[in-house]
Amino acid sequence: MITSVRLFGKRFTNPLFLPSGIINDISGHKIAVDAGAGAIVLKSITVERREGNPIPRVAKYAGGFINSVGLRNPGIIKAKEEVQLFIASTDTPVIVSVFAAKIADFEKLVAEIAPLKPVAIELNLSCPNVEGEFGSMLSDSIKSSAEATKVAKKVSGKIPLICKLSPNSVQIGEIAKACEAEGAEAIAAINTVATGMIIDIHKRKPILGAKKGGVSGVGIKPIAIARVYEIYEAVKIPILGMGGISTAEDAIEMMMAGATLVGVGSAVYTHGYKLYGQMIEGIKEFMKKEGVKDIKSFIGTAH
Ligand code: DHB
Repeated sequence: MITSVRLFGKRFTNPLFLPSGIINDISGHKIAVDAGAGAIVLKSITVERREGNPIPRVAKYAGGFINSVGLRNPGIIKAKEEVQLFIASTDTPVIVSVFAAKIADFEKLVAEIAPLKPVAIELNLSCPNVEGEFGSMLSDSIKSSAEATKVAKKVSGKIPLICKLSPNSVQIGEIAKACEAEGAEAIAAINTVATGMIIDIHKRKPILGAKKGGVSGVGIKPIAIARVYEIYEAVKIPILGMGGISTAEDAIEMMMAGATLVGVGSAVYTHGYKLYGQMIEGIKEFMKKEGVKDIKSFIGTAH
């Protein structure tokens, strides 16, 4: 039974990965490596250091979480040292995520990161908590998504680029296509749903310091499945699918929608990092029962 997958010319021991932003400190990602995640995506890095939004930055509700971290990170110069150490410390494929509100900054960030030879670089075109240069998410527009991919591609060399899109993007398939046309090697979807709010009824105030935040967790899974399904019909490049995935069955469903790799993020807050191993065991059981020999044969079969 084969549960490893090939992507970007590399072997991933399993298709489950830690999405960006679940862990904030670069060295802190080791916990997901130790738990057996098939790949790790680091928290998005920006050109300048960012303190992040006022606390609390994360809040829970029955269907999952809302968060507004405000892209807290040490900035590219400091982050580069930490990324280099982290990549050297593990055999698990590491994907570096970068965020810029100005399209031109994607070129700066990718030029700094590519020489560190991560397995891929994720362009976060869809942070719900920081607006891009046109006052909205870059992935809200075909033109800005394409432009960001194009400037990153000038300096990415052999390192594959992954464009991370928002479920709020209208015509997500068209946006994915535009990224593909500019040379993106993969699409990641979905980012958190923009945006949600939870009000503390005793304090009569929004709970999050930033008031609103991106919505994640089990409640957004059907949105994630539908968007990945649409992207799969629109492009030929592979998809990193995520959003509300918390069981082996969810991961199989996400692969059937079209994902090659499946992100498991918010669910580790609820179930702990041991979830990766448990989900792999669950996937193997399903494969055995259904007589499936190679995990990759799930990809896109719902179409
Ligand atoms: C943040 C960024 C994201 O891309 C996201 O989906 C949620 C939160 C942030 O740092 O605020």
